[in-house]
Amino acid sequence: MWDYTDKVREHFLNPKNVGEVENPDGIGEVGSIACGDALKLTFRLGKDKKIAEARFKTFGCASAIASSSVLTEMIIGKTLEEVEKISNDDIAMALGGLPKEKIHCSVMGQEALEKAIAYYKGEPEKILEGEIICHCFNVTDVDIRRAVQEKGLTSLEDVTGYLKAGGGCGNCHEEILQIIQKSQGMTILEPKKPAAGMTNLQKIRKIEETLESEIKPALIRDGGNIELVDVDGNRVLVRLQGACATCSRSRITLKDHVEARLRTLVAHDLVVEEA
Ligand code: FES
Repeated sequence: MWDYTDKVREHFLNPKNVGEVENPDGIGEVGSIACGDALKLTFRLGKDKKIAEARFKTFGCASAIASSSVLTEMIIGKTLEEVEKISNDDIAMALGGLPKEKIHCSVMGQEALEKAIAYYKGEPEKILEGEIICHCFNVTDVDIRRAVQEKGLTSLEDVTGYLKAGGGCGNCHEEILQIIQKSQGMTILEPKKPAAGMTNLQKIRKIEETLESEIKPALIRDGGNIELVDVDGNRVLVRLQGACATCSRSRITLKDHVEARLRTLVAHDLVVEEA
């Protein structure tokens, strides 16, 4: 269960300024319904050039609704120069904070605002910088690198929480992990090909070693642990222990952390399952 503040709950249960402004001056649309998160922000300026009306429509979770709702409240009555300075951190702070897995909702709000202002100014659509790494959410290597460096993200889970990158099909997980490792100055370990030439015993040993050195320390730090139960072909059967066993996010830990690391460091076709 996410830990939501009262402010998030209030804006989710009683969202403000839902809908679309008629004849808007600014329109900003981000995300896509196919990806599960979309936001349309519209605003109208008054004669004093301050935002007189702002409305939103969103398809997303409680945090997306709350972020959009609070954003409209933040911008009404302000000039464009003032609202241009609003960052995603400001949106999250206005809600008393968001779970780190939901920060991308405030990022989406800030991006919609940026697009709506660009629309008003008649500026062309911003060209994506870099190469798209996550095709499900249109996130580039430049976006990921910037977020990792500026926000101190250290795991795939952090990146998904912040940018949503990696939150869909999962095909980009290895590339995201490599960007994180590179940004942290770690040696990049290329994903291993199927364990050609590795005997079954060597593969099991390699899995054990990787669990010990690369995976267990982080889980133990969070009050959990993991035990290798069996290896059956490419299936790696494990048992989560301690806090990890009872955590509602255990499946995410298993797939985004354990499986992704084993695929990168041992063999790319491993599938991790709970025994
Ligand atoms: S490409 Fe599908 S989650 Fe990134």
